[in-house]
Amino acid sequence: MSKGNLLLSAENIHKTYTGKAEPVHVLKGVDITINRDDLTAIVGSSGSGKSTLLHILGGLDRPDKGTILFRNTDLSRMDDETLARFRNRNIGFVFQFHHLLPEFTALENVFMPGLIAGKPMSEIRERAGYLLEETGLKDRMDHRPSELSGGEQQRVAVARALMNEPEIIMADEPTGNLDEANTEKLLSVLMDIKQKEKTAIVLITHDSRIAGITPTVYQLHHGKLDTTPANHG
Ligand SMILES: Nc1ncnc2c1ncn2[C@@H]1O[C@H](COP(=O)(O)OP(=O)(O)OP(=O)(O)O)[C@@H](O)[C@H]1O
Ligand SMILES: [Mg+2]
Repeated sequence: MSKGNLLLSAENIHKTYTGKAEPVHVLKGVDITINRDDLTAIVGSSGSGKSTLLHILGGLDRPDKGTILFRNTDLSRMDDETLARFRNRNIGFVFQFHHLLPEFTALENVFMPGLIAGKPMSEIRERAGYLLEETGLKDRMDHRPSELSGGEQQRVAVARALMNEPEIIMADEPTGNLDEANTEKLLSVLMDIKQKEKTAIVLITHDSRIAGITPTVYQLHHGKLDTTPANHG
């Protein structure tokens, strides 16, 4: 087993959206490395390309140019199907809006990545139960998303992202729609699990308080990433 700490490295990432309108040059040579167990925040103004970058880093979208290595695997060399399988097993996504499946219960939503990965049902049940307990949802497992509060929905989304024990969680403004109490709760859940499972976390956030507790903060600006001094205190 590789003992290396380097988890993800992206080099010279470019992305331009072309369509009917003027092309939008969103990413103009982004470099970033993420180590195992890192906690990294990405900040930047609205429209600066944060979601675009996160989707590319996580293999949800492809860059026009540049390479993304996950450990020693080059994501750009994978066909769509292989990439989807890779994502399912290695990367957990949490979005601003939870994207839970409305017709399924919290428990079933958390099952989903495990089912897709073809894990044994006994293992899936055990892991899902554990994660829902860890996220404070023990008594809400059989609720559908519409029967959960916004904060609870988002914690289900975190549990779902963790189902397959990913090495990295990529979260795009996961607290963007939450009040202060729910923001605190979501962060503490994330940090607890991070500590237990050594999961790296990349967090996009507008919240300067969150960026303030993150050891590494990058700012996306004019299509490039600058390291900003972490604003502790
Ligand atoms: N599919 C698309 N086609 C064309 N332009 C797009 C597309 N998706 C995003 N854009 C443009 O690319 C730019 C970056 O979008 P992106 O969603 O990455 O920004 P963001 O930093 O996540 O913003 P926010 O903080 O508002 O979520 C924006 O100007 C947006 O209008
Ligand atoms: Mg965004």
